[in-house]
Amino acid sequence: MTRPALVTGATGFVGQALLPALVRSGVDVRATSRRALAAAGPFVEWVRCDVSSRDDLSRALDGVGVAYFLVHGMGGGQADYAAHEAESARVFAEVAAAQGVERIVYLGGVAPAHEPSVHLKSRLTVGEVLRAGRVPTLELRASMIVGAGSASFKLVRDLSFRLPAMVLPKWTRSSTCPVAIDDVVRALVAARDVPLPESAWFDLPGPESLTGAEVLFRLVALQGRAVPAVPVPLLSPSLSSWWLKLVTGADFSLARELVLGFTSDLLPRDDRYWQLIGAPPRLPFDEAARRALTQERTEASVRGVLGETAEFVVRVVGQGLAYRRQRR
Ligand SMILES: NC(=O)c1ccc[n+]([C@@H]2O[C@H](COP(=O)([O-])OP(=O)(O)OC[C@H]3O[C@@H](n4cnc5c(N)ncnc54)[C@H](OP(=O)(O)O)[C@@H]3O)[C@@H](O)[C@H]2O)c1
Repeated sequence: MTRPALVTGATGFVGQALLPALVRSGVDVRATSRRALAAAGPFVEWVRCDVSSRDDLSRALDGVGVAYFLVHGMGGGQADYAAHEAESARVFAEVAAAQGVERIVYLGGVAPAHEPSVHLKSRLTVGEVLRAGRVPTLELRASMIVGAGSASFKLVRDLSFRLPAMVLPKWTRSSTCPVAIDDVVRALVAARDVPLPESAWFDLPGPESLTGAEVLFRLVALQGRAVPAVPVPLLSPSLSSWWLKLVTGADFSLARELVLGFTSDLLPRDDRYWQLIGAPPRLPFDEAARRALTQERTEASVRGVLGETAEFVVRVVGQGLAYRRQRR
């Protein structure tokens, strides 16, 4: 009998997309997170697990064949989250080896052209720590994943939807290869069977290299709108983060980490992984974004436009006041 696959981060954006795809591929799934899953569905067993607890990990990893590591704590408000993430990854690799896990699959972030931000460095360190363990580990590195519920996609979507003109700080000139969630899920499912003589990492690029500004204008065009560009090259990353928080309502630490992570190009080394798994052509950005927006519209119709608008106005006023207080 095949051993179940463990999906950590099962309540997260990627985890939720991966669960049904793994079940469809014929594998039994054990899903874990700290919060319970809203609906686990058939062939999915849910086990509560905080990855910082060795006991929780021992229970969650017991009898598992492949373990997906999709956990991260960015935006959780913990100042020293990078150290916590590295330690959790170390214990995860250790317990996985003790439990006889055959393979770990980790979805991390692309290495930037220059010095990584704290967030990106932490993603890369988690990969190094897992790959240094005794269980063969496949690390897949993505930049922005385009899909409904992705924190980075939500930021650019809100920027493109909510402004009458496109404010373009210097970091929007950096380039990256956004990848569709459908393609990421395909890559993760295939990761169970890819030949892996030893631990390795691969990039997971989408098919196009786009600057941040191009991403924003593509999203504006998808709404059938045209807005003027307002370059503001001197807007510092800190001010940019406040501006992002104000417009999008994102958590400040999350906005700051994402801006800092994008101050240089986030480009892949190559696309060997796609050739390795013989995947069909990847979704272009516009199609991936269209799918994400359609899914979000379906989900948002439940909440209603009025509620969202009222929330937005209250947030903008509140955050403007908070910013003024902090500047004094
Ligand atoms: N989204 C993107 O654009 C993107 C891009 C590149 C790479 N990635 C990578 O993809 C992976 C998944 O990202 P995501 O976007 O799905 O993140 P997400 O939506 O923020 O989900 C994070 C998950 O981590 C879990 N978690 C956090 N702390 C935990 C802890 N101490 N113990 C157990 N579970 C914990 C959360 O579950 P609970 O809170 O319920 O415990 C949640 O399920 C990450 O490694 C990320 O770096 C994402």
